[in-house]
Amino acid sequence: MIRIAAVGDVHLDEDVVGRFRPALDELPDCADVLLLAGDLTRHGTEAEARCVAREFGGLGVPVVTVLGNHDHQCDQVPQVVKVLEEAGIRVLEGEGIVLEFPAGRLGVAGVKGFGGGFAGRCASDFGEPEMKAFVRTTNESAEALGAALRGLDCDLLVALTHYSPVPDTLAGEPLEIYPFLGSYQLGQAIDSAPTALALHGHAHAGSERGTTPGGVRVRNVAHPVIKQAYSIFHLGDHLDAGEVSRIGHSGIQQPWS
Ligand SMILES: [Fe+2]
Ligand SMILES: [Fe+2]
Repeated sequence: MIRIAAVGDVHLDEDVVGRFRPALDELPDCADVLLLAGDLTRHGTEAEARCVAREFGGLGVPVVTVLGNHDHQCDQVPQVVKVLEEAGIRVLEGEGIVLEFPAGRLGVAGVKGFGGGFAGRCASDFGEPEMKAFVRTTNESAEALGAALRGLDCDLLVALTHYSPVPDTLAGEPLEIYPFLGSYQLGQAIDSAPTALALHGHAHAGSERGTTPGGVRVRNVAHPVIKQAYSIFHLGDHLDAGEVSRIGHSGIQQPWS
């Protein structure tokens, strides 16, 4: 059994930093790894990244993350990544990592992802250059995720994104903004490999559970959705038998309205 802790959308800044730490200090007792589903910061500044490094650095378990749209806001992505990686937090963007545990090798492929919408209600590669660029970004992101997933040699495979690969976990969000919350191409990428679990954030008003068309379990771990410091998923050593469970953890107050 590999125990995966996950949370997204912690949106840290100086006002919030420290609130997750008491729960995080207990992580080594209940999880083998922590996956962060992006939107680590409010506006993606280097100063906010240092808050993330303080909160999620030195936990005693590996920490792997993707960035979210908020982490791009101030165009300081290289600085943000540098601060995080110096704190031992591995940032994935179109690549994967294999972590060795006594229970087996966990492969994590990560990408921020992008919007575009879902089958029948999605943006198409047609018309203005701006629309084509939008869809190209979506496609390239999904292709990178698929290639990363298929390239990992491991016992259990997890996909980590910020944007959602399915509409299921958006339930609760206004239908009008679904195309800005995820894209079906991410789901296709996840289904192109023997993925055991897909984790994402971004949809603060969404819901927890979903499934890709290919049957891969999807979980929205955005902090406003899970309402706790992190959720824990237990994955068995057989891809089909791995039962995903969610263990309740002392809730912490949501740091934003
Ligand atoms: Fe967010
Ligand atoms: Fe987001």
